[in-house]
Amino acid sequence: MDSKNSDDDWRVICEKDDLAESELKEFYVSEVSILLVRLSDRIFACQGICPHMDEPLSHGFIDGTLLTCSKHLWQWNLETGAPVGLAEMELSVLPVKVDATRVLVNINQLTNGGGAYTQEF
Ligand code: FES
Repeated sequence: MDSKNSDDDWRVICEKDDLAESELKEFYVSEVSILLVRLSDRIFACQGICPHMDEPLSHGFIDGTLLTCSKHLWQWNLETGAPVGLAEMELSVLPVKVDATRVLVNINQLTNGGGAYTQEF
C-alpha cells in the first residue's frame, strides 16, 4: 500500500454536522491543531496554527477559499495552501474524506508550518 494513503494516516476528526457553513473550527490530533472549514458541500483541512507567528487560524477570516490570518493578514488559497499577497510561507493542507456521518483527515502530509508541526503522530 502506498504510504501516502495508509489507512493509519486517516483520523476521524468530527461529525459532519459539527461543521457550520464557513466557520473556522479548530480540532486537535495528538495535541496538534488542525483547522476545518466547511464551504457549501466541500470540507477543507489545514494546519491550525499560522506558519508566521503561531496565531490560531480559527481567529482568522474566510472569503470563498481565501483564508486570512487575523494577526498580520497573511493569506492562502485553502485548496492548495499556496500563499497569496503578503504570505511568505505555504500552508499545509490536508486531504479530507467524509463517510456517512464522519469527517476524516489524512495527517500524513502534515509537514509544513510553525513549530507545532514538527511533532510526530
Ligand atoms: S501570525 Fe499569522 S500572519 Fe502573522
